[in-house]
Amino acid sequence: MKIAFFSTKPYDQLSFTTVNQQFHHELVFLEPRLTLETVSLAAGFPVICAFINDDLSQGVLEKLAENGTRIIALRCAGFNNVNLEAAHKLGLVVVRVPAYSPYAVAEHAVGLILMLNRKLYRAYNRVRDDNFSLVGLLGFDLHGKTVGIVGTGKIGECFAKIMKGFGCRLLAYDPYENPVCVELGVKYTDWRSLLAQADIISLHCPLMPETYHLINEESLAQIKPGAMLINTSRGGLIDTRAAIEAIKSGQLGYFGTDVYEEEENLFFEDLSDTVIQDDTFQLLQSFPNVVITAHQAFFTQEALGNIAETTLQNIALVEARKPCPNQLHS
Ligand code: NAI
Repeated sequence: MKIAFFSTKPYDQLSFTTVNQQFHHELVFLEPRLTLETVSLAAGFPVICAFINDDLSQGVLEKLAENGTRIIALRCAGFNNVNLEAAHKLGLVVVRVPAYSPYAVAEHAVGLILMLNRKLYRAYNRVRDDNFSLVGLLGFDLHGKTVGIVGTGKIGECFAKIMKGFGCRLLAYDPYENPVCVELGVKYTDWRSLLAQADIISLHCPLMPETYHLINEESLAQIKPGAMLINTSRGGLIDTRAAIEAIKSGQLGYFGTDVYEEEENLFFEDLSDTVIQDDTFQLLQSFPNVVITAHQAFFTQEALGNIAETTLQNIALVEARKPCPNQLHS
């Protein structure tokens, strides 16, 4: 199949080209993000491959269908950027990669916790500057602390296993209990109790209309004062302005995030020579108890290989009109 890849970087090209030796699709790598302005680049391609910040809203989907695209292959797990109902009305098949390395994301969440708690970002810079003072670097033992896991699917489960290894008490909030987590000793609780008891809250649920701004002014008022919040899921789960206010008042003690509500205008690009226009992001960046990474939690060698393999396999199955377990239905 002839596939147009949007939002590609050199690492995507490398992983997909390598894995494609088994599949023999025709791959065309495009750098631009898929938007209404760039959708014409997909003309004549029966398949397009898109990533998390590509725009797959109704208008873009209509243009894709008009120009002959039949399959949309997401090379990611989340699909909050796709209007599935519109896609199905237009006869577009949408496939995704539901799991490629839950370890990658869970391990990154733990990385953010350690970084914030032990202030590793400050320690690293200090030592490079021959400043060997420990003042301001005081952390806390993770052992014995309560961790609240929001969403205990594939990533939440891996995260629970790691945090259990640290000797943490594990609470979870999820409409569905995961038996592996129950076996591990995770205690399922209601939303309010999780907020009130957790020293660290880590988000591992999808972004959907019901979870949009799950962390807002009201929920932040209910957390344990000084608690840590970690988000490696989707930026829209948190009302960033409310988080900023909670950081300023001291209610939120630490904030580590790999995602940001308006990240499509920033992440994955080198903007180091640019004046960033997003004042909210700049304010968030300025706090000493905030660590931001630019949607890199998935970014391990293993994950990239698995993403390429599942994506190309999904396309091959749909092309062969065989059932594809990773097809999304509205
Ligand atoms: P999953 O589908 O295995 O698990 C999601 C869990 O969230 C399920 O157990 C579900 O019942 C639960 N859930 C749904 N609504 C909820 C609610 N209102 N409150 C609490 N829990 C709720 O998904 P997986 O693979 O664990 O991924 C989780 C999220 O991580 C994805 O939706 C995606 O947004 C994000 N992600 C981020 C990456 C990154 O690089 N930062 C990479 C991959 C995924």
